[in-house]
Amino acid sequence: MDIVHISAECYPVAKVGGLGDVVGALPKYQNNAGNTVSVVMPCYDTKFKDANQFTAVYEDIVKLGQFEFPYEVLKETTNKLGFELYLIAIPSLFDRPDVYGYEDDIERFVSFQIATLNWLSNRATVPDIINCHDHHTGLIPFMMLYSHRYEILRNTPSIITNHNGLYQGQFGFDKLHYIPEFDVEHANLLEWDYCINSLAVGVKCAWHVTTVSPSYLKEISHFANGLERLFTMVQYKSRGILNGIDTQLWNPASDKLLEKHYDISNFELGKLENKKILCKLFNLDPEKPLFSFIGRLLNEKGGDLLTQASALALSENYKEINILILGSGNTEIENDLNRLKGDYEGNYNTYIGYNEELAHLIYAAADFLLMPSRVEPCGLNQMYAMRYGTIPIVRRTGGLQDTVIDYGDDGNGICHDQASVGDICYSIKRAVGIYNDKEHLNKVIQLGMSTDHSWERVCQEYLEVYKLLIDKV
Ligand code: GLC
Repeated sequence: MDIVHISAECYPVAKVGGLGDVVGALPKYQNNAGNTVSVVMPCYDTKFKDANQFTAVYEDIVKLGQFEFPYEVLKETTNKLGFELYLIAIPSLFDRPDVYGYEDDIERFVSFQIATLNWLSNRATVPDIINCHDHHTGLIPFMMLYSHRYEILRNTPSIITNHNGLYQGQFGFDKLHYIPEFDVEHANLLEWDYCINSLAVGVKCAWHVTTVSPSYLKEISHFANGLERLFTMVQYKSRGILNGIDTQLWNPASDKLLEKHYDISNFELGKLENKKILCKLFNLDPEKPLFSFIGRLLNEKGGDLLTQASALALSENYKEINILILGSGNTEIENDLNRLKGDYEGNYNTYIGYNEELAHLIYAAADFLLMPSRVEPCGLNQMYAMRYGTIPIVRRTGGLQDTVIDYGDDGNGICHDQASVGDICYSIKRAVGIYNDKEHLNKVIQLGMSTDHSWERVCQEYLEVYKLLIDKV
């Protein structure tokens, strides 16, 4: 199969969150399974771009009303990522360091989608499958079906993978003219709550919708920032496919970002060595259990609960635990978390920012990983944690519920039901208990380390969906 993934992120080219990890891994495994797989993404001003070789394979102009944006499609020449990588280089819109967060994000991502389809509809061969990811690519299934210019792609099945329904890429109908010409009778497909809603468009028009875990598929009919009804209506063409992790990249026995390696046979020593390194860096006590949080400091991830929960847990278990937070996001949460440093020096610290290398060290060094998410479509960190012998402490929601089972039920982690300070602290208390019972602790760790979260298995599920769609053509 000739499969094209279209996404705003792809690790290691550009990553903000889990979307990047998934689009950096799933295509590789699909490629290994005997398919021709490409990833198409915008060309940001990143280190990856500077450090690699590209060749231009197409050039054209995107027209958004009276504005014209010349662009090139750049192909990475060595294929070193395990799939073909194409960057859509629209210098005036994307030659900037960040992926999102600009005032003209709508113009940026609408242009990206049009530029991608201009090229794909002019390629020598039409792809067998187009897999879009999140709202930045949501207009593509519509344009493939209804924009006259892309008629050649009308019979190509499109899929939209929903990594997070909270973000939807809405914009006003005053920008309707951005979308290449289509018959006006289809305009209603663009609308949700009086706006053009990119995610809703994708969900309505894609041949199939996937969410990144089975539980999230159920939850999204009740909690989707206004799109609940739509997700309920499209259940007939939806499937929840649990994400995997890149087990080559995320392997404590060979991780290039770690100094001390280990595997399931010697994890006690290996983790302790990493813990000593980390604790030295952050002035923490390697003798005490280390709880960590890695990720975006947002309310949806329970970031706002972390300050209070940390303060309470540290005061209740004074000098008995360490907490280390790595992440960035909401400034208020960042400030609150930083403020706590003065009160619990030696047992608490933060690193506000994004740091891939430090994240790997924390997975290797920590004893427990906190994930008190309110919403978690899949979550990858709990899987990375388990692979590195760190016990996840999760709120039962979305993909967390599908991957972590409480040790009380002979499982691989610690679970609680509420996204609340009380529940988090209760879980921390249970964690301290199990930390002091080494035999039990090691059993839970070993179970986590031997759980199979690899993409090999999961990628077959995507291929199955693709095949069903192709058979319909
Ligand atoms: C988003 C979701 C996260 C998921 C990731 C990859 O970041 O918030 O739960 O794991 O996408 O699908």
